[in-house]
Amino acid sequence: MRFDVVTLHPDLVRGPLGGSILGRAVTDGRLLIGVHDLRDVATGRHRAVDDAPYGGGAGMVLRVDIVARSLARLRRPDSHVLLMGPGGTRFDQSHARRLASLPHLILVCGHYEGFDARVEALCDEELSIGDYVLTGGEIAACAIVDAVGRLVPGVLAASSPLDESFGDGLLEYGQYTRPRVFGGVEVPQVLVSGHHERIRRWRRADSRHRTEVRRPDLLPASPGAVDGSRDDD
Ligand code: ADE
Repeated sequence: MRFDVVTLHPDLVRGPLGGSILGRAVTDGRLLIGVHDLRDVATGRHRAVDDAPYGGGAGMVLRVDIVARSLARLRRPDSHVLLMGPGGTRFDQSHARRLASLPHLILVCGHYEGFDARVEALCDEELSIGDYVLTGGEIAACAIVDAVGRLVPGVLAASSPLDESFGDGLLEYGQYTRPRVFGGVEVPQVLVSGHHERIRRWRRADSRHRTEVRRPDLLPASPGAVDGSRDDD
């Protein structure tokens, strides 16, 4: 699978994606990650990539012609182009799974002051990594490349996608290793029992319990609790 990230700050993207598991997958040839500086396609004496907004207002806006020129160099018939922006659909694990089946993703990083609205029409979908505003799309692009890249077959040594958080719609169960007792807290007895079926059941129950306590929004709504309205109103 190939990723191309289009950005005004290539170093911000190269650093995080060069290390650890993703870096190894690139070295092994399982992933290809290109990082492209938008300034490389800028022309004119000042190689300007942004300009003042029509209608006035503070700051500078990323120019649509610059993004179009960069995409023209990178786009293939099978490319899927993602725009990073706080106004996009909230990225989650189901997006990661869908995107991991595609051969080529291009990620366009927004600018801290925003981009010309016509950039949206150049992209296939806009994604946000959460309801907060970052100074640019680079951190969002790294998060998405990481979450998608690790799902590509062969990138993780021993992957068990159903076990991990969100794999089956629940959070992952608690994991333990040595020491067996720490700060007076002991590893759950069942995990040292060697009884595989009981361990499997304990993990399932722990996943459910953690999800109920921490992320009840992930659980399917129980019948009767349709819209949160009260019977006694
Ligand atoms: N750019 C700025 N904020 C962002 C966010 N929350 N997600 C994706 N891109 C962004």
